[in-house]
Amino acid sequence: LFGFNTNRVSGYFEPIAPSSEDKLLLPKNFKYDVVAAFDDVINAAGERFGEGSDYNAYFPLEGSNVRGLLVTNHEYSTIFSLGPVKDGKMTKEQLHNNLYYQGMSVIEVYRDEKGVWKMDINSSHARRINGYTKFDLTGPAKGGSALGGATTAVGTFANCSGGVTLWNTVLSCEENFAETAAASSLPETHYGWVIEIDPFDKKYLKKHTALGRFNHENTAMGIAKDGRVVVYMGDDKKDACVYKFISKGQYNKSLGRGNSALLEEGTLYVANLKKGEWVPVTLEAVSKAIKDKPELQKKFVTQGDVVTYCQEAALLVGGTPTDRPEDIEISPFDNTIFICHTNNDNHGNIHGHITRIFEGGSDLGSLTFDFEIFAAGGRQSGFSSPDNLAFDSNGHLWVVTDISSSSQNKGVHKSFMNNGLFVIPTSGPDQAKALQFASAPVESELTGPFFTPDEQTLFLSIQHPGENTTDLNKPTSRWPHRAGDSKARSGVVAISGFKLG
Ligand code: FEO
Ligand code: CA
Ligand code: CA
Ligand code: CA
Repeated sequence: LFGFNTNRVSGYFEPIAPSSEDKLLLPKNFKYDVVAAFDDVINAAGERFGEGSDYNAYFPLEGSNVRGLLVTNHEYSTIFSLGPVKDGKMTKEQLHNNLYYQGMSVIEVYRDEKGVWKMDINSSHARRINGYTKFDLTGPAKGGSALGGATTAVGTFANCSGGVTLWNTVLSCEENFAETAAASSLPETHYGWVIEIDPFDKKYLKKHTALGRFNHENTAMGIAKDGRVVVYMGDDKKDACVYKFISKGQYNKSLGRGNSALLEEGTLYVANLKKGEWVPVTLEAVSKAIKDKPELQKKFVTQGDVVTYCQEAALLVGGTPTDRPEDIEISPFDNTIFICHTNNDNHGNIHGHITRIFEGGSDLGSLTFDFEIFAAGGRQSGFSSPDNLAFDSNGHLWVVTDISSSSQNKGVHKSFMNNGLFVIPTSGPDQAKALQFASAPVESELTGPFFTPDEQTLFLSIQHPGENTTDLNKPTSRWPHRAGDSKARSGVVAISGFKLG
């Protein structure tokens, strides 16, 4: 048995073995309930739960651990939401579904008297945010020439991971936006940002351009010693960088959501791993770097241009290309920063690794750092291709894996079988050892682990089960195997433990 506190999901469990079954497998004494799956009705207006569930965040209602709002990201479409796309060209209906089923859902969830988690479709909070929702732009790119003078953007899609702010809103990250933007002839520069929504306020919808435009995976927010807000972000692309944004002003708890203005003005930094330095991605630094490159001087005229063409700007100022930085978490115990570098076959990093950054003076506001490889994927550690992360109160990292479905169960990935959820202690005798807690259904990836405050429930997304299906009559997965279902559905489960002993 592994763990410390009974009656919590983050408590004792007997690690499971890898599996290739089309099931969500959990350790003995744990169960899951499907709270929402693709296309389920979420409210009285008949809106539907989106496709490709990823990030989750739970917001207690009246402090409750058994009733709250669940915010879920919807990253992308599959054959199950679009049907087969002929010759790579979507029909009008497919284009609509593609925009409709991506984005986010806010739903209300509760645990009934029998201990079963359910969705409450009578909720007044339940709603969809998708490719049609209008957002206010903030920050340096707002109204600038790179965005064609736009002060608003229509829609959000490719919403991958995210983070909760100190003022209880959700940041959601637009990751692989290019395909959907191109298919629907939308201006590409309006996507690839970090957006902010308030689960309790339908009208509050922002895209914060100060945080840069790239293939945003997630955000992890903390406070520097001097009170400024710090946001760590990964750019999930091969040979791309790790960023942090530091606000100009200081966090003031009494302002509540008013602190959101901190995300509109500040400095974006990129990690230079050779020097152990956070390098500013500013117009001043970029201008210096391109003083002998007149062809680039036309591209980078304002800070709005710098944040819009952020990937290029970051490399110009000395950001270090890394192996697909996915999720990032700040340890609540020692302010060290954990980054999943999922993999990068450009140079043989097949199983990926988790990097740990030690900020100078343990201050998130520091501009110097040291780092180590905290854990490496591979046969010895038992996991491959780490992706999302969550901390529990024992100081354990909960890590989901994302071996691509075309690589699963064969070659060098054979021994790992389906994707999984692993628990990795960050200190003590078991530091950096991975223990498997869950095994994912066929061709799926587990995403968005998020605990209720009492850690008795873990929300987890099951993303793209059966995604290699080409014939809808022969799906490669039928998860969640609900009565009457003939196809696979992505969705969110609530995992809870039975009382032990
Ligand atoms: Fe959407 Fe980088 O995972
Ligand atoms: Ca994914
Ligand atoms: Ca991811
Ligand atoms: Ca991934």
